[in-house]
Amino acid sequence: MDNKRFISFEGLDYSGKSTQIRLLEKYLQERGHRVFPIREPGGTVISERIRDILLDKKHMNMTERCEIFLYSAARVQLVQEKIIPLLKEGYFILADRYVDSTTAYQGYGRGLDLQMVEQINQAATFGLLPGTTFYLRLQPEEIADRIPQSGRELDRLEAAGQDFYQRVFQGYEILAEKNKKRFYVIDANLSVEQIHQIIVKILIKRTME
Ligand code: TMP
Repeated sequence: MDNKRFISFEGLDYSGKSTQIRLLEKYLQERGHRVFPIREPGGTVISERIRDILLDKKHMNMTERCEIFLYSAARVQLVQEKIIPLLKEGYFILADRYVDSTTAYQGYGRGLDLQMVEQINQAATFGLLPGTTFYLRLQPEEIADRIPQSGRELDRLEAAGQDFYQRVFQGYEILAEKNKKRFYVIDANLSVEQIHQIIVKILIKRTME
């Protein structure tokens, strides 16, 4: 499967992924490309329903294993129903999170066995990885400054606290180090326009190679 047009965005909550996806979607559409943006967990009717269960604050007693299987169940439906068929049709897939989120949040953040996480990720994706991953690097301490601006309540994961985010951050750093060919690290504190320009430049290079 050609994964060149499969692009994922990763980073801590509030790192600006969705803004960048919107800008890139517009950029690609203006150049005549067909684009499908997806948000994980979500993107299909079934996956959106799983998302509601995952983010519901009433579910504070959800076990770590239940959590990873729910994320993965939402993902496998998305991969089979949307990602694979649309890539075959020549679409660009812009994914707001993908398996690296599971490794960072459930593996490093929750402390689940990394080998098990890897196996579950493999099963949920049939081994399909993005061709390029943009990691918007935001320090955990910087999240708090960004929350009031959005003015909404924290969801179940966001309520998990500073230590959790510190571990997730370390997880992303390790992933970036281990997957240098696929991962591009971008400072999330640059301006929206600067980040967009960096992304476009990298993408032109990656998709023309
Ligand atoms: P979002 O708000 O960025 O859409 O993401 C929802 C939350 O789900 C976010 O806190 C990260 C978390 N998450 C995981 O813990 N594991 C995963 O595999 C995915 C896709 C998201």
